[in-house]
Amino acid sequence: MGALGAGGALRRSHAAALTALAALLLLLLARHAPAPPPRPRPAHPAPPPASPPHTDALPPSQPLVDTTKLEASKIESPKIESTVRIIPPVVTQPRNVTAAPSVAPPAPRRDPRVVLTRDMYVAGHERPHPELCPALGAHLRLLILVTSAPSHSTARDAVRLTWGHYAARRDVAMAFVLGSPPESMRAALEAEDSLYGDLVVGRSLDSYSNLTLKTLSMLEWADTYCPRVARLLKTDDDMFINVPRLLRFVAAHENSTRTIWGKVVRKSLPKRTTKSKYYVSPLQFPGKVFPDFATGPAYLMTSDVIRPLLEAAPNEPYLRLEDVFITGVLGARLGMKRQHAAEFYNKKVAAHPCAVQRGIAIHMVQYHEQFDLWRKLLDGKTKCAS
Ligand SMILES: *[C@@H]1O[C@H](CO)[C@@H](O)[C@H](O)[C@H]1NC(C)=O
Ligand SMILES: *[C@@H]1O[C@H](CO)[C@@H](O)[C@H](O)[C@H]1NC(C)=O
Ligand SMILES: *[C@@H]1O[C@H](CO)[C@@H](O)[C@H](O)[C@H]1NC(C)=O
Repeated sequence: MGALGAGGALRRSHAAALTALAALLLLLLARHAPAPPPRPRPAHPAPPPASPPHTDALPPSQPLVDTTKLEASKIESPKIESTVRIIPPVVTQPRNVTAAPSVAPPAPRRDPRVVLTRDMYVAGHERPHPELCPALGAHLRLLILVTSAPSHSTARDAVRLTWGHYAARRDVAMAFVLGSPPESMRAALEAEDSLYGDLVVGRSLDSYSNLTLKTLSMLEWADTYCPRVARLLKTDDDMFINVPRLLRFVAAHENSTRTIWGKVVRKSLPKRTTKSKYYVSPLQFPGKVFPDFATGPAYLMTSDVIRPLLEAAPNEPYLRLEDVFITGVLGARLGMKRQHAAEFYNKKVAAHPCAVQRGIAIHMVQYHEQFDLWRKLLDGKTKCAS
């Protein structure tokens, strides 16, 4: 609308920018006599050294703060609007490190090649569905967020048709969390979402190496739209979750604070060979041993860890192993308890009805298996010693 009027100013600032660019080029030429040919930017440009205000660094290609979210929330009750918060992209105040001595040593002086998480994460959600968490979660016992990929619509259907039914309870809420989809999938996802209204779509591109960003997107959603919920389960779309058992677990630990429960792995070593699918460079994680972490397929957290995790994440080197990063590196840095609970199998198990009924989380479940496990959970016949 104002484009015509702004044309002159735009041209002027264009000219100014060109002059500045030319000056910069001259300066560079003077310093490195034979000017190298311009090279394409590397896939992961080295970020500027940590310097709180972004103004003198390269401008981020996308805003860290999502303004459309504020707009979207206006449709909802003013109560929600007033509580919409945005994660501070940079936390400048010093933080007390409460980590146990066995965990990663405090980060040494930053190498400029280190890619920090704030250089990767794009905040905000496309259709945030605040209505999925009524009263900001005040009456919820449990919020279940299922990370999913845009193409996994059949896996989501299997969850909706089986254990996802527990979201019909007024004390349980559930949503799928996706990264930003490729253009070719948008229409299908919009149709799916208009049918079910349960897709929360973040702004970082959905890809395997962005899993950590998806989990951050999930935490941001919980913090923004469901901050009063008591417990959050993070799980994936290839999981079977025994929700009644999980609710009993939640009740039995009702007084816990700052805790993450799941299948806790101790003394795990980072893979230093570049051939490994789980390769981690010393720049991403300098320590010799990972801090104790809860494995990614399913972990439960008290909601008081959500905000601290979101505040600490931007300043840590980006690690694409989301479980190690969120529950291990950040969990340790923030002094959170990571408690092993055997009911979180987080692996494929022989699907005996009693194993299903005793467990909380079973991994690597295909479409048809969801229905098999659902029946075994609720057959009403098998007698298992609890
Ligand atoms: C950090 O440590 C100082 C001194 O030990 C203490 O006064 C302060 O309350 C601590 N802050 C937090 C957020 O724990
Ligand atoms: C996500 O992953 C893709 C491809 O792996 C990458 O190009 C992109 O920069 C990543 N980050 C974000 C914030 O989308
Ligand atoms: C939690 O604390 C309350 C109040 O102290 C107590 O009555 C309750 O039994 C505790 N719950 C559990 C599971 O320990």
